[in-house]
Amino acid sequence: METVGTRGDARERAGDPAGQGAPGAAGPVIAGAGPVAGPGEQATVRLRDGDPEEPARYAPEWLRLREGADAAARAQELLDPLRIRLANLPGRSGGLVVHDLGCGTGSMGRWLAPRLDGAQHWILHDRDPYLLHFAAVASPRAAADGSRVTVETRRGDVARLTPDALAGASLVTASALLDVLTREEIEALADAGTGAGCPALLTLSVAGRVELTPQDPLDAEIAEAFNAHQRRAGLLGPDAVTVACEAFAERGATVRVHASPWRLGAAEAALTEQWLRGWVGAAVEQRPELGDRAEAYLNARLAACAAGTLRVTVHHTDLLALPRPRGAAT
Ligand SMILES: C[S@@+](CC[C@H](N)C(=O)[O-])C[C@H]1O[C@@H](n2cnc3c(N)ncnc32)[C@H](O)[C@@H]1O
Repeated sequence: METVGTRGDARERAGDPAGQGAPGAAGPVIAGAGPVAGPGEQATVRLRDGDPEEPARYAPEWLRLREGADAAARAQELLDPLRIRLANLPGRSGGLVVHDLGCGTGSMGRWLAPRLDGAQHWILHDRDPYLLHFAAVASPRAAADGSRVTVETRRGDVARLTPDALAGASLVTASALLDVLTREEIEALADAGTGAGCPALLTLSVAGRVELTPQDPLDAEIAEAFNAHQRRAGLLGPDAVTVACEAFAERGATVRVHASPWRLGAAEAALTEQWLRGWVGAAVEQRPELGDRAEAYLNARLAACAAGTLRVTVHHTDLLALPRPRGAAT
């Protein structure tokens, strides 16, 4: 494994980089997924290895749990404009080079690589070597037309990517990443992507809207507290897509967005349960005064989930940024 080109040394971010609360009485919280392990429950984040400065890490079990819902949610509508741009890339004959930022266990590549034609080399970036290992062993092998897909992994901080790190890239992707970045980090990402002149497909950013059926009077209060939790320490949470659209457009890119909601029903009960625990847990961490009311709410929601009577839509947004082709007039 190599280390990615960055703007500095491995960074230490103040606060809670991934929207994850410090381990404590309520357990760690992962943005969008939530507190994790009550006694006897399976964690969705792995605890820090004793270093409070180290960002909390995502559990591969959580990423695996959401992969099916993510695949169903991803906006197919952005694929044709992307394919057209990729087909017209100069130097395409050597195959595509795709950088997947914050790849986790590699779910983006498993979804996208078989939907694009031609040989592809995926460069999988994450700061977590444990997840990179999972991504490497379960990487996609074949493109839509049967061409070969290869991968390599790079450990590093994707929020500090420079255009140099993306030199030669055909495409930059990310999935469930933008909302855990700050404005400065998204601007750095837009600088790097447009500087390299390659398209960016940035998917599954939380939109800050959730619908539960049947409704409950506490839904809106929990959603508001959760969104506030996501915006802690300068992270963008539900504002990420707006900021990213502005950042890419200011740098001359054409930007398209499309909804990519999770639609969770009885068949997704395991994911819904973990998501509910996380959603409510983050809300309570943000507004401890929700306390007993939130606990009763969570218990009722979990019971409905187990009974197969709960439906949840978690809104996300996918974004495709197409920079001006290299050499085009400004
Ligand atoms: C919510 S997970 C999404 C993983 C994967 N893209 C997916 O869709 O399943 C976010 C991932 O981004 C990584 N990550 C978050 N911030 C990062 C940063 N600043 N530098 C590198 N990786 C980062 C985390 O380690 C984690 O693997």
